[in-house]
Amino acid sequence: MKLALPDEAATVELGRRLLEVLPDDLANWTILLQGELGAGKSTLARALINAAGHSGPVPSPTYTLVEPYELPRGNLYHIDLYRVSDEDELQYLGWDDLDDGCRLVEWPERVAGLEEQADLVLRLCYAGDGRQVEISALSERSSRLLVALADIYSED
Ligand SMILES: Nc1ncnc2c1ncn2[C@@H]1O[C@H](COP(=O)(O)OP(=O)(O)OP(=O)(O)O)[C@@H](O)[C@H]1O
Ligand SMILES: [Mg+2]
Repeated sequence: MKLALPDEAATVELGRRLLEVLPDDLANWTILLQGELGAGKSTLARALINAAGHSGPVPSPTYTLVEPYELPRGNLYHIDLYRVSDEDELQYLGWDDLDDGCRLVEWPERVAGLEEQADLVLRLCYAGDGRQVEISALSERSSRLLVALADIYSED
């Protein structure tokens, strides 16, 4: 599924809508956010985290690697793998234990094979002054989620 995101507000709206189609219990979902510098990964992550009920700031996990959130619908881990280069480092940051919540991952391409463990990948790229996103389902349950998301967008 491809969407045009002409401005920042469109990226924020996608974050909200994504949360709307995710199940009530966010545990054990893994969502990958790909895209070059400035493509809008953090904007999207922040929108989703705010929509899920977090009202404070959403600091970048670039240095901490993982920023945890306790949200009404469960835990959410905002993860940035920019500084991680392999599977060993991923284990070192406790990746396996983060499956009690939703793993929302920026720079997933830093670790080979992550897509095999994920539900959804959103690939953001520049399109003129705005952005464009391609969303792919990597699991059975996320294919259903994409159908629901497409339905919401078809009502615009
Ligand atoms: N759809 C959009 N159209 C235009 N600008 C956007 C859009 N979405 C986000 N932006 C803007 O792009 C800039 C970069 O966004 P953001 O920080 O989310 O990118 P990023 O992918 O996280 O970058 P980095 O890899 O450097 O962390 C911000 O100023 C944001 O407001
Ligand atoms: Mg970012």
